Amino acid sequence: LSPPNRRPVFKVSGTTNHLTEPAMPAKSTTAVTAFKLSRRTALKGIVGSPALIASTTNAQADAKAIVTFTPIAASDADTVRVPPGYTTHVLYRWGDATGIASTPLQNLAFKQDGSATATEAALTAGMHHDGMHYFPINGSAEHGLLAMNHEYTEEVLLHKAGTVYDLEATRKSQNSFGLSVIEVKRGDASAGQNAWHVVRPSPYARRVTMQTPMKVSGPAAGHALLQTSQDPSGARVLGTMHNCANGYTPWGTYLTCEENWYALFGTDQTGVKLSEAQARYDLSNQASPPWYKFDARFDLAKEPNEANRFGWVVELDPFDATSTPIKRTAMGRIKHEGAALSLQPDGRLAYYMGDDAVFEYVYKFVARDKFDAANPRAARDLLDHGTLYAAKFVGDGWAGLQQANAAQGEWLELTHGKNGLTAANGFASQAEVLIHTRRAADVAGATKMDRPEWCAVHPTTREICVALTNNSARGQAGFPRGEGPNPANPRNGNVFGHIVRLREANNAVDATRFAWEFVAFGGDPTLPTDARKGRVKGDIFGSPDGLHYDARGVLWVQTDISPRALNRNDYKGLGNNQLLAVDPNTGEFKRFLTGPTGCEITGCVTTADGKTLFVNIQHPGEGQASSWPDGPGLKPRSATIVVQRADGGVVGT
Ligand code: FEO
Ligand code: CA
Ligand code: CA
Ligand code: CA
Repeated sequence: LSPPNRRPVFKVSGTTNHLTEPAMPAKSTTAVTAFKLSRRTALKGIVGSPALIASTTNAQADAKAIVTFTPIAASDADTVRVPPGYTTHVLYRWGDATGIASTPLQNLAFKQDGSATATEAALTAGMHHDGMHYFPINGSAEHGLLAMNHEYTEEVLLHKAGTVYDLEATRKSQNSFGLSVIEVKRGDASAGQNAWHVVRPSPYARRVTMQTPMKVSGPAAGHALLQTSQDPSGARVLGTMHNCANGYTPWGTYLTCEENWYALFGTDQTGVKLSEAQARYDLSNQASPPWYKFDARFDLAKEPNEANRFGWVVELDPFDATSTPIKRTAMGRIKHEGAALSLQPDGRLAYYMGDDAVFEYVYKFVARDKFDAANPRAARDLLDHGTLYAAKFVGDGWAGLQQANAAQGEWLELTHGKNGLTAANGFASQAEVLIHTRRAADVAGATKMDRPEWCAVHPTTREICVALTNNSARGQAGFPRGEGPNPANPRNGNVFGHIVRLREANNAVDATRFAWEFVAFGGDPTLPTDARKGRVKGDIFGSPDGLHYDARGVLWVQTDISPRALNRNDYKGLGNNQLLAVDPNTGEFKRFLTGPTGCEITGCVTTADGKTLFVNIQHPGEGQASSWPDGPGLKPRSATIVVQRADGGVVGT
């Protein structure tokens, strides 16, 4: 989701060409070489000094492409397109039965007229699928669980025409948010049945909604700022919402990240003055949809602390449909996009996380304790103890990640008592640092980024890619917190976004320094100004959002161009939102999939054998008519699709 769609954080002007557009920073000639150097590290699986790796590299010999499909053209068609030799099928649409055991499945067919009840909404797929992870059952790449987010609702599609918003409509909306866990299985390949299906009923099947009881844990649990009239303990919350991207743990749990939760809190009470802390998270008296009118906990005047109970990373055990999800406060409270795991061979681990709003930050959480694969149960509360950092970028991002003169960055520790996070500056405890994570990162001096969306960690080198989706406000006067270019965000009026890559010092997850480089800038070379041409080897794109590394080290980039928020003219040459595969050896971007009209591509995960790619198609029809996937005259529906090679081979080859 692009937050400006839902409640404009800033006004998007009809034309953006009044912005000052400095030339792109000069590109160092070493940048392309850096892709190859990265790959060599991957092949050897070594952790060496950058100088050592560089001195042993024969870049030319390494440049053999492993992403070999025929890229497809950009498309405006209201359909999903993939390269020749590939198949797709729809697996799990909004309103499809989740398969929860003991529910009457026959009553759960999708209702085109929007007449499904709130109860039915809690037994079927929620709206607007987003981040997703595949959990193998007994290690299988053909049978497992998909845990996925339902980010938000499109109320016009959700309800019957003429519905007057009331408590039932509120509950139906709340039940259309949250998560799904579904059991999925591939057909018998030896019988030529490669297609996947949802297993119904299944003991694993589950919907998590805004009514699901959750526990709060970590340093902020129980704090006065988390206490409400319904929950004086400050440690029991109903529900999770605006779950955008995701993560997973080595002990087999799912992480879901609360992003645009601020949009659900409001009030009709006049004279309510929002605090500085509330304003820092863009809370206002307007909410959409207006749950607060029928459910008092979303009324900022009645329950000012309820909003403090959202904005967290939530851990869910997908293998136990009765388990209580846990909000892990040690990982900070922001507009959490996702949480990308980096696991060292010795069991130390970190998560990389973006805060998706203009001029916000990139974060890292380093767990205090190691993960012990021989004793996974000991990791039950591992995410309650650790150190949170925010990123500061300096230097020249074209210098190349592995070079001795690589641009440098610093992880600023967000621990009470350090980096100005003291009582004198308004932080009485670590709980307050975490509840007010954004302000803590302000005080520490982190770098304001162009809307950090997903992060992804390379499976062997552990290099980290970060998608900075866009920021048309950069360099534009009059925006709160606005500012001009900085080293990691060099374009004013950055409507196309870019991707950066980080490498921790000594490749250690708990390093406090990192090197970084630019991977690509979105854009279209046919546009007149240098800042809009972009810089990418291969197929062009804009607004990178989802990132996923598969087991081969191929980076899958999902785009989210918002037709309502951006100047469509700039994006005409890019077509509908798309999924690209980046070859780890050549650095080339290849367009693999184009989505239906008005959709965003978000949430993509491959099985360990690389033969199945699950992709979420979110909000087809946003701002433009679509009848995907069911056909003419029928409502557009977000859905999980399955992409396979027709011959059963590895996807991306
Ligand atoms: Fe839900 Fe930042 O995308
Ligand atoms: Ca979107
Ligand atoms: Ca987005
Ligand atoms: Ca996103």
